[in-house]
Amino acid sequence: MQNEELFRKVVSHAKEYGFVFPSSEIYDGLSAVYDYGQNGIELKRNIREYWWKSMVQLHQNIAGIDSAIFMHPKIWKASGHVDGFNDPMIDNKDSKKRYRADVLLEDHQEKLREKIQKEVDKAAKRFGDSFDEAMFRQTNPKLAEMSAAIDHIDQTLKGALESGELDRIRQLIEELGIVCPISGTRNWTEVRQFNLMYSTQMSAIENGEDNLYLRPETAQGIFVNFLNVQKTGRMKIPFGIAQTGKAFRNEIVARQFIIRMKEFEQMEMQYFCRPGTELEWYTYWKESRMRWHLALGTDPAKYRYHDHLKLAHYANAAVDIEFEFPFGFKEVEGIHSRTDFDLGRHEQFSGKKLRYFDPETNESYVPYVVETSIGLDRMFLVTLCNAYREEQVEGDVRTVLNFHPALAPVKAAILPLTKKDGLPELAEKIFEELKWDHHVYYEEKDTIGKRYRRMDAIGTPFCITVDHESLENGDVTLRHRDTMLQERVKIAALPELIGKACSMRSLLEASKD
Ligand code: GAP
Repeated sequence: MQNEELFRKVVSHAKEYGFVFPSSEIYDGLSAVYDYGQNGIELKRNIREYWWKSMVQLHQNIAGIDSAIFMHPKIWKASGHVDGFNDPMIDNKDSKKRYRADVLLEDHQEKLREKIQKEVDKAAKRFGDSFDEAMFRQTNPKLAEMSAAIDHIDQTLKGALESGELDRIRQLIEELGIVCPISGTRNWTEVRQFNLMYSTQMSAIENGEDNLYLRPETAQGIFVNFLNVQKTGRMKIPFGIAQTGKAFRNEIVARQFIIRMKEFEQMEMQYFCRPGTELEWYTYWKESRMRWHLALGTDPAKYRYHDHLKLAHYANAAVDIEFEFPFGFKEVEGIHSRTDFDLGRHEQFSGKKLRYFDPETNESYVPYVVETSIGLDRMFLVTLCNAYREEQVEGDVRTVLNFHPALAPVKAAILPLTKKDGLPELAEKIFEELKWDHHVYYEEKDTIGKRYRRMDAIGTPFCITVDHESLENGDVTLRHRDTMLQERVKIAALPELIGKACSMRSLLEASKD
């Protein structure tokens, strides 16, 4: 299956089976905003629980909080978001559409890369086994020209953003002949910086003095509570504070479904440590977070690290964990060594000391911070893309989501073979027993085959079929989602069997070193 086609299928499957719906759909939707349906919310809750338990429950020195979305406006001045959280935007005067200028250039680079690849593939076909790709790339003048154009775009963009000479970006867009995908014209406005934060007012009076921002990240709620948690929890350095919650960004270029949304959820942890030890902790968290991802059984080739070569001025190390989506590798999580920048700035802007007295060194200092920051919605999409399978079964296509059982929205379906002879009553009894510990589902409509397929499509690891023999022998048929193998199992053994297979504990154990 072509990657584009695969992604299209994942998106329509997510809608058809109650995972993700476009927001406000009956009003024609709201761009880059999505709702989670009955199965999506369960999957999302399970991913969040996996993260929360792995951070807060398994680490005695990590505490969880839930700070408010509304925060004092000075926080965003201190964090640098008011002045620096911008995207360079350009409008097309004919279509009246607004674009991110850097994305227009990146898309152009991508087209050049595709052209290069096409030339390489053509030559490989022509020359067969004797083809030396590296040599071809180096010596072919057409390829060299396109590679130089890609580098030129990188350099001009970087230089213009650093110096603030935004007109150079517009000139480059014009030079390259980039047209608006809607109007097809090159009638561009100048490039302007556009802040990504949404603002609102605290009171009903619109005088601009009490402007609030919807938080663009959850991290600042952690920094401003650093001393509250340290003191009330009697935390000793190194220690962490974790939180999950909504963040809001006015993303103009919202693409690829729930990858880039205007309202999304983050799971962030700030680890406060002694200055000078931050790079050790950075390495620790870099490895630890990758283990968390791989414990889900994902092929390691689907993940990679992307070390940042160009660091933000306050960071001394940064890496992204990227996943190979059907449309290519994209960041899912960032690990950043942020030095004492954030706490230092909050000291400066609030006038309050944010220091830690270290009893081991008898010193008082502003701790250094290593941050791990993952998008819950992106992780949701990783889980969905990774789980989606189409298999040929007896001349038919079976669509199955092979989620890790601990993440599956529904753990087991209880299905009476027929609607009579006391089978529904026994099935309901099993449902009543299992529901206390697991999200289980009871269904008696349609043939058993159709019911199995529906459960495969939402990734339910087990189907429990109650038949006439069940009444006599006290056993049921247990069908396994991935192998489709069926076995007879005593009803009394079901709670332990399902509990073990779907336990978060085994997943958490696999994520530890
Ligand atoms: N506190 C650091 C921070 O917010 P970030 O790289 O801007 O760093 C962290 O965001 C993670 O949040 C990303 O790796 C991504 O998974 C997720 N994320 C960021 N913007 C997003 C958006 N518009 N839609 C969905 N997820 C987003």
